[in-house]
Amino acid sequence: MADLSVNFCGIKAPNPFWLASAPPTDKAYNVVRAFKAGWGGVVWKTLGEEGLPVVNVSGPRYGAIHSQDRRVFGFNNIELITDRPLQVNLDEIKQVKRDWPDRALVVSLMVPCEEESWKKILRRVEETEADGIELNFGCPHGMSERGMGSAVGQVPEYVEMVTRWCKQHSRMPVIVKLTPNISDIRRPAEAAKRGGADAVSLINTINSVMGVNLDTLEPWPATDGHTTHGGMCGPAVKPIALNMVSEIARSPATAGIPISGIGGIETWKDAVEYFALGASTVQVCTAAMVYGFKIVEDMITGLSDYMDEKGIRSLDEIVGRAVPRMTDWQHLNLDYVVKAEIDQDLCIQCGRCHIACEDTSHQAIMTEKDGARHFEVMEEECVGCNLCAVVCPVDSCITMRPLAPGEVDKRTGRVVGGHRTWMEHPNNPMAKNPRGPVEYPEAAVAREPAE
Ligand SMILES: Cc1cc2nc3c(=O)[nH]c(=O)nc-3n(C[C@H](O)[C@H](O)[C@H](O)COP(=O)(O)O)c2cc1C
Ligand code: SF4
Ligand code: SF4
Repeated sequence: MADLSVNFCGIKAPNPFWLASAPPTDKAYNVVRAFKAGWGGVVWKTLGEEGLPVVNVSGPRYGAIHSQDRRVFGFNNIELITDRPLQVNLDEIKQVKRDWPDRALVVSLMVPCEEESWKKILRRVEETEADGIELNFGCPHGMSERGMGSAVGQVPEYVEMVTRWCKQHSRMPVIVKLTPNISDIRRPAEAAKRGGADAVSLINTINSVMGVNLDTLEPWPATDGHTTHGGMCGPAVKPIALNMVSEIARSPATAGIPISGIGGIETWKDAVEYFALGASTVQVCTAAMVYGFKIVEDMITGLSDYMDEKGIRSLDEIVGRAVPRMTDWQHLNLDYVVKAEIDQDLCIQCGRCHIACEDTSHQAIMTEKDGARHFEVMEEECVGCNLCAVVCPVDSCITMRPLAPGEVDKRTGRVVGGHRTWMEHPNNPMAKNPRGPVEYPEAAVAREPAE
């Protein structure tokens, strides 16, 4: 069996599947059951400073968008940090760490942006012998209006300042949890690194309103008729999180910083995608809330079988493997050509591909042949955009075939096989060393669309 163990910025765990700071890690009862199920680590639900308890709404604090078969695609919440007394949480953390020494136990923290407040809480967390701390600079609702959470995460200077305090006043590894509610995720990640962070984790939730009730015109989920924006997570946010993880992994200023990937992870396959794009552990919240702790069993066996099958001995061999494949648009090969192909044996002749291509793409799918209903791609019109494959309801019915070097692209009449990016393209007025003749689009677009 493959070795799934991890050493994440000095924090050891038997596997990379950790529960994110959220309701699943709210108390010892949950965390112990999660460890029994097999989770390699947890980030305890965010603790705040000593004082009067946090007050949550007593109405719906969660909302969701469902697929037609009621699968939860997107999940949203307006919950605050822990509403349990600080000392109760600290006592439980201490006991759980004692009972489960091989599991990672990280404590999430959020206190006011004052050095003294951080100093105080760090001292108390250190006494629990937890493995590390995660700074919650991500929560976008409730606490952010009080100057904490994403209000800190959106200002790189604050991220750097608080991270530095934590490194100065604690011996524990510091993981900085980033908010996605920002225009360029690299800036707070760089700030965290400058402040001395041992790692970053991302993403926290995305600002969102789940919908409006069409009978009452009330946005929902509502508390006594009013709604506030919540934080969205679940499978729908995974692509956003993957992009942000890869941005940090490939940016020279932050490359190499350990990353804990979070957002929409439901299966071992989701986790492998995060690993390939630079994360070395993953954290899960929504999937555990929707399906329960036992999902980790499939994650462990699935990942282990995958690694055995591929001859991968340790996770280090996967982490970051896809990062060199991430580039900027101007470095994509503009001479690479693919065409859509319809498998006539699988096609159920629903016509969706034709409608999509006809109305919004390149009018490249015929509907009739020899007087009969028939859907086929006309290569001389197809730009390989992939829309038909996206809308086709039959799996693998439409595939995208790359033209082989030497083949002629029937749309442009050009022989395929070159490699020109926008940087060398003659149509780019800024190109330093243009290659090949200037391309005039008339030849390709002047033809009448096929009926
Ligand atoms: C109900 C709920 C409460 C959450 N509370 C916290 C929190 O206290 N601290 C924190 O850092 N993140 C919190 N989060 C964010 C999650 O830790 C995680 O970053 C986010 O849900 C994305 O992961 P997912 O798509 O697996 O849910 C919460 C999320 C949910 C759904
Ligand atoms: S790939 Fe795009 S252009 Fe080609 S047939 Fe499909 S939808 Fe039309
Ligand atoms: S969408 Fe798919 S199944 Fe429907 S007609 Fe097109 S190729 Fe056939």
